[in-house]
Amino acid sequence: VEEVKIYKGLAGVVVDYTAVSKVNPETNSLLYRGYPVQELAATCSFEEVAYLLWHSELPDAAQLAEFTAAERSQRTLDAPVKRVIDDLPLTAHPMDVVRTAVSVIGALDPTTADSSTSSNLAKSITLLAKLPAIVSYDQRRRRGQDVVEPREDLGYSANFLYMTFGEVPSDVVVDAFDVSMILYAEHSFNASTFTTRVVTSTLSDLYSAVVAGIGALKGPLHGGANEAVMHIFDEIGTADKAEAWLEQALAEKRKIMGFGHRVYKNGDSRVPTMKKALDTLIEEYDAQELLDLYVALDDAMQSRKAIQPNLDYPSGPAYHLIGYDTELFTPLFVASRITGWTAHIMEQLASNALIRPLSVYNGVDERHPAALAERA
Ligand code: CMC
Repeated sequence: VEEVKIYKGLAGVVVDYTAVSKVNPETNSLLYRGYPVQELAATCSFEEVAYLLWHSELPDAAQLAEFTAAERSQRTLDAPVKRVIDDLPLTAHPMDVVRTAVSVIGALDPTTADSSTSSNLAKSITLLAKLPAIVSYDQRRRRGQDVVEPREDLGYSANFLYMTFGEVPSDVVVDAFDVSMILYAEHSFNASTFTTRVVTSTLSDLYSAVVAGIGALKGPLHGGANEAVMHIFDEIGTADKAEAWLEQALAEKRKIMGFGHRVYKNGDSRVPTMKKALDTLIEEYDAQELLDLYVALDDAMQSRKAIQPNLDYPSGPAYHLIGYDTELFTPLFVASRITGWTAHIMEQLASNALIRPLSVYNGVDERHPAALAERA
């Protein structure tokens, strides 16, 4: 086999420029279009951040009003989308439901083949508006509940929670949810975003790229980790069992979900902000036991492995407290990351080159097929 340096998992490989976000593991920082994500979370709504990611600048009041009006006017699902979801069994993972629903939306849109920036921006707003409807619809159908129609007087996060739970929760809950949406929105060339860029690089359409991105996000090494964190918490039970559980899990060479990161090696820049939001929810829901477990597993992990938690570690328990079924956590990540994905899709198109890496062949040497009768 030819001696070539292989970059397994593309680790450390720089494949392109991006102006969408900057991840800096040395300074433990993350900038969206130049703004520290912590400051955006403290100052802006998720809608403003979505606008920023797509338009490179924060909106002024008039721009935001126009943007939110467009989002608020598209918060319902067309009948064929609902019918397809209704036909899916409850055994289907909610990520499969979201993936299928987005695919149906793409198949219904007469402008799917139009890849102009204006058309892709319009599609991006459509998906931003409709993903909460998809996730809420699926969560409610799993609980045997009727659909809740959107309210145009509510902002994105308040309406999302209203459509899921049938009432507007307290500001504490809405704010914590909004912060999670902002933190999940964008993270440079992660696996799902890179997937959307690969699909886009073939000049395929935005919906196809997003459907592929959802497939990539589903895996537990990526977005599926927020769901997996909650499964781990359920497995452990209570804080006093965390240390022994971890010992056993590490002995079995299990990866501990919600810890570690390909790029950050000294801690995920988004965790402190999300942990603060989680703390407000712990107080709101009087959930000290959950916090004890959170702290106990983190402490045990630090003393055994010194591998820091990533964003999925605080966001999983946060979504649990807000009331989502565990399997719905990664679809919530989709609802947020649609903003980053589509920003990258548009950036890829603006200076496209087909993404087509090379490989080194290590299979059997050249040979020639025998006729069927002559094969043993
Ligand atoms: N639990 C136990 N050991 C770990 C973990 C973990 N979560 N993460 C890394 N390690 C160990 C790993 O076993 C390896 O040890 P050794 O050198 O002895 O074999 C070393 O740390 C390096 O790990 P790696 O897997 O080679 O590093 P990577 O850059 O390929 O992995 C990762 C990054 C995120 C896939 C990994 O940390 C992981 O599997 N974490 C759990 C899943 C998770 O939480 N994913 C969410 C990622 S961030 C947000 C998101 O995308 O949603």
